[in-house]
Amino acid sequence: MEWKYEHSIGIQEIDDQHRKLIEIIVSIERAIVSHVGWRDIVYGLVDLKVFARSHFEIEEALMRMYGYKEAAKHTEEHQYFFTRLAEIECKSIDKLAEGELLKFLRDWLKKHILGEDRGYADHILAGASIVKTKVPSLTVVKSAG
Ligand SMILES: [Fe+2]
Ligand SMILES: [Fe+2]
Repeated sequence: MEWKYEHSIGIQEIDDQHRKLIEIIVSIERAIVSHVGWRDIVYGLVDLKVFARSHFEIEEALMRMYGYKEAAKHTEEHQYFFTRLAEIECKSIDKLAEGELLKFLRDWLKKHILGEDRGYADHILAGASIVKTKVPSLTVVKSAG
């Protein structure tokens, strides 16, 4: 799994965060493939959860600021990510759980970036009005779209 230009949602800061999320998932994949033990996988998962939490909060703040109608549904998707991750983590540490973990992380992130994330980005980039006054400055990817 690697970040590709087709993953761009048109907002540089968010693209950079998605790139970082993918890097963390790749480090978890590497830990699994190299059989270094569950400890490195757990470290990777901790990194992933910490970074995903801040990334999701930034997105949720942007959606509120720009009055995005699907914000609540999108936030539920973010919550589902942590719920499902916790379910997989509760399973016994075996090959099956590792395979399920990687499949979930890859599939969820790809679908979410190309689907839900692009949805709010398109709303902002289409010139949505700011409904709250404090808005972080965003750098639009020039050739996106
Ligand atoms: Fe999102
Ligand atoms: Fe995202």
